[in-house]
Amino acid sequence: MINNLDFSIMKDGKDYKYYSNGKWRKSTSGDLIQVYNPYNNELIANVQACTMEEADKIIKVAHENIDCWEEFPLNKRAEILNESANLMIKSSEKLGHLLMREIGKPLNSAISEIIRTAEIFKATAESSLQISGETIIGDAFEGYSKEKLSITYRVPLGVVLCIGPFNYPFNLTGSKIAPALMAGNSVVMKPPSQGPLTALHFGIILEKAGVPPGVFNIITGRGSEIGDYLVSHPLIDMINFTGSSETGKFLAKIAGMKPLLLELGGKDAAIILDDADLDITVKAIVSGAFSFSGQRCTAVKRVLPMPGIADKLIEKVTKETLKLTIGDPAKNNIIGPLISSKQCDYVQGLIDDALEKGAVLKCGNKREGNIIWPTILDNVNVDMRIAWEEPFGPVLPFIRINSAEQAIKISNKSEYGLQGMIFTENIDLAFNIAQELEVGTIQVNGKSSRGPDHFPFLGTKSSGLGTQGIKYALESMSRPKVVVMNLSEKGKLIKECFVPEK
Ligand code: NAP
Ligand code: G3P
Repeated sequence: MINNLDFSIMKDGKDYKYYSNGKWRKSTSGDLIQVYNPYNNELIANVQACTMEEADKIIKVAHENIDCWEEFPLNKRAEILNESANLMIKSSEKLGHLLMREIGKPLNSAISEIIRTAEIFKATAESSLQISGETIIGDAFEGYSKEKLSITYRVPLGVVLCIGPFNYPFNLTGSKIAPALMAGNSVVMKPPSQGPLTALHFGIILEKAGVPPGVFNIITGRGSEIGDYLVSHPLIDMINFTGSSETGKFLAKIAGMKPLLLELGGKDAAIILDDADLDITVKAIVSGAFSFSGQRCTAVKRVLPMPGIADKLIEKVTKETLKLTIGDPAKNNIIGPLISSKQCDYVQGLIDDALEKGAVLKCGNKREGNIIWPTILDNVNVDMRIAWEEPFGPVLPFIRINSAEQAIKISNKSEYGLQGMIFTENIDLAFNIAQELEVGTIQVNGKSSRGPDHFPFLGTKSSGLGTQGIKYALESMSRPKVVVMNLSEKGKLIKECFVPEK
């Protein structure tokens, strides 16, 4: 019990239930999905492998409760989001520990993820109170008079399906839920099967904060089993998805005629010019490439250094990388386990391919269990898989370049377009290069990242569709409604009504 939050009703022993229409339920499938700690492979808990029938039912519950929630005034919704944030903060230690265990995130980062989500809830509540429409008078166009006015305001889309990835399972479901609810939608949330436990706690938190039963619902289950059914369901009015480009592209094909917000994979490249500040650059690269063992969409995933700085940059990055702590996430080691043994195998395959094709190993290429040591590869060329594929692990390739033009070409050749980085003291040149990069965001003299969360965050090409970030997410999960007033000609009589003073 935390401040009268009773989490015990969520589960029977180790078996967590799913949350629909204000009740915690067991699936009729009788099938459970095991959730293992990727660090020590302990079985933490099980979640329900829900059926398509249960998916259909939960979506219909959300659909039936749209009106009830839309009737809540904006200030009441804001109050509920703020209370939700307060409850998250009170539970941040407990939820942070659970998050650490279920995905292997360093403890402090896991607790920060809970608190960051609370901050998003608060900021969403606050920014929503500024939502307004506009009134336009028709006489700007020939043939139209002042008697024609358009009055616009924003309305919810309906049922929003929120699907999150394993690497931020609480934050990247919460950052969808908050704007969806604030805009007046009802929600069906599906957490990742590799990290569902912390996100399930939204059921307790939001109910306690005042969200009525049926407005917010959580279904657990394998994306491969119920994912297609969920995204293509006719009563789903909008999909807000974060995950791999492969999954995102697939669901975009089958979703049908509904708005999509897709935050997908990345291969963020750091262009390092000869005049870059070495200390700033080294710190950004090491932190950007290896925090949470590289399991971030905005991780630094390619470094393109010019000849004048390359050697000393690679030496300093290697030296700092060798200082990174490795091991138990509970002890806040920077390098911990990847999410699964299968993911480790994939990352190892990229390393082996690069070495077979002539890359130079500077450090790493060692594995124990699900931990891969931070690995730096020099002299990577465009024939190697690591130059183009997203490892989602602690591997950093250096692709040496001879000109900014070559750097732009290699950056843009990627299928991904999430973020890019330019390190130089010449800000004019940085701005000119930034204009040429086919990405959502360019960081100048800083590592790629999503925060702060009121900034626009988007990917181009295979990195996504639409824009996250509080204000942008609110807009994406609502639409304008327009009322055009065709006032009568009576308005013109007013002048005749005035009797000039004698
Ligand atoms: P993933 O395998 O694509 O899974 C993401 C979510 O999609 C999970 O909840 C998954 O459920 C669900 N899913 C799987 N198949 C589905 C289907 N057919 N229909 C609907 N949903 C389905 O990605 P991940 O491994 O969790 O996350 C890593 C990837 O996400 C990386 O590529 C990373 O770059 C990307 N990512 C991007 C951002 C960003 O903001 N751009 C942020 C974080 C991560 P199950 O778990 O049950 O399969
Ligand atoms: O992969 C998660 C993505 O949203 C990056 O977030 O804050 O680590 O840059 P952040």
